[in-house]
Amino acid sequence: MKVLITAGPTREPIDPVRFLTNRSSGRMGYALAEAFARREEQVLLISGPTQLDIPDHVDFIPVETAQEMYDAVAHYLPQMDAAIFCAAVADYTPVSVASQKIKKSADTLTLELKKTPDILGSARQVMGFRGYLVGFAAETENLEENARIKLERKGCDMIIANDVSQAGIGFDSAENEVLLVESAENTALPRDTKEHLAHHLADIISDRWLLKVKARELL
Ligand code: PMT
Repeated sequence: MKVLITAGPTREPIDPVRFLTNRSSGRMGYALAEAFARREEQVLLISGPTQLDIPDHVDFIPVETAQEMYDAVAHYLPQMDAAIFCAAVADYTPVSVASQKIKKSADTLTLELKKTPDILGSARQVMGFRGYLVGFAAETENLEENARIKLERKGCDMIIANDVSQAGIGFDSAENEVLLVESAENTALPRDTKEHLAHHLADIISDRWLLKVKARELL
């Protein structure tokens, strides 16, 4: 199986020395890449900036901005069997990037932002991807309900939802606790290290992908 995984944060530049970003460490996405590579699957990891080592036997494309991540995904997605979008992609980016460092002057400064491209939301409709599609949902309330809306709107086979308001799980932590939301069922995976969870998720996603392939063969 060829699997594409996005991971880490994006960085949206404001001027030559400043950017907008978030608390994603990349650990969840890198753990998934390593888990699939250990199963001897072919893994392409597309990642925003992190402090992590690239897992062995993983092809790697570093990116910075949401637009760069979009372009890399659009280029490689058609060759993939499965795709897992774990990156914490900025939803907004500055309308313009100052060519010089912005000087301190007035008491307040307003940044104008515009929407970034929705990479997961483009996978089916724009990029024409027909493989097994997994999105993440970082929620602070109504976990299942919001994940199910994402599942349907973005044409995913599975959403891996995490409650990022809880201390000790989610962004920049060693552990996570996730709810897998699929069209017919929900599966709660208890709190565990991201590495253990990733192996469990790799097993489940590989099984689901095989079922999808078999269902297509029967058509
Ligand atoms: O990196 P870690 O520190 O280990 O933390 C892991 C994590 C908390 C970042 C991870 O488990 C997680 O929840 N990743 C998704 C974060 C996120 O941006 O969620 P969202 O609900 O805002 O986005 C929904 C989905 O759309 C995600 O699959 C996201 O990758 C994707 N997306 C979002 C915006 C955008 N412009 N393009 C996208 O593809």
